[in-house]
Amino acid sequence: MKTNSRRKFIEDSFKVTVAVAVGGPIILNSASALAANESHDAKVNADNPLKFVQAPLGFSYAALEPNIDALTMEIHYTKHHTAYIKNVNDAIVAEKLNYTSEKEFFDNASKLSAKARNNGGGAWNHNFFWASLKPGTTSGPNGKVKDAITNTFGSVDKFKELFTQAALTRFGSGWAWLVNDNGTLKITSTANQDNPLFDKVEVKGTPLLALDVWEHAYYLKYQNKRNEYIANWWNVVNWDEVNKRLV
Ligand SMILES: [Fe+2]
Repeated sequence: MKTNSRRKFIEDSFKVTVAVAVGGPIILNSASALAANESHDAKVNADNPLKFVQAPLGFSYAALEPNIDALTMEIHYTKHHTAYIKNVNDAIVAEKLNYTSEKEFFDNASKLSAKARNNGGGAWNHNFFWASLKPGTTSGPNGKVKDAITNTFGSVDKFKELFTQAALTRFGSGWAWLVNDNGTLKITSTANQDNPLFDKVEVKGTPLLALDVWEHAYYLKYQNKRNEYIANWWNVVNWDEVNKRLV
């Protein structure tokens, strides 16, 4: 069943949009994510069973100030991300792609057209990114993800150093990732809108944390200083959400 497969994908594999800010703005809970998907499922016709959905941004554009500025957030969400969603859905229709889930779509990423691949990655990556953010200064990793990070990298500080390095050294546009590769945490980066779910990618795994290092994510406030953007981004990481993704 199409709906069931998509639900299982979300619940079992990605845990993408399950993010509740206790005592603060709701980022996006699983019920609303599923409702959004199911709503769009109802509109999908038999020839085009997959449709990407832009997850609601559950906090205001200014909520991440001063770490990420309001104008950047607004443009990023309403222009860039919205365009990825539209373009991948247009490609799915135009190219008559019959994938029935996002998982199946990314499992076949190497077979996709550039338009479908790049915009599909952009659509998914940004939904994941928004849910990885939390207004207010966070205190760093906690619980089982802190234990896993410490066991893998030696310390939280060392992990942050290595992740920062991956983000800084990604040449041009791309993403830095923390992934769970069958129980092993790994840091990687991808070019453009690729992600660790693609069938052919340097490091595969279940994404736990992502950082967008495209210039559109930081240039208005930080200009060429990607290092300052990364340093301040750590303040708004939603570690509770990262914990939920580690299963
Ligand atoms: Fe972006």
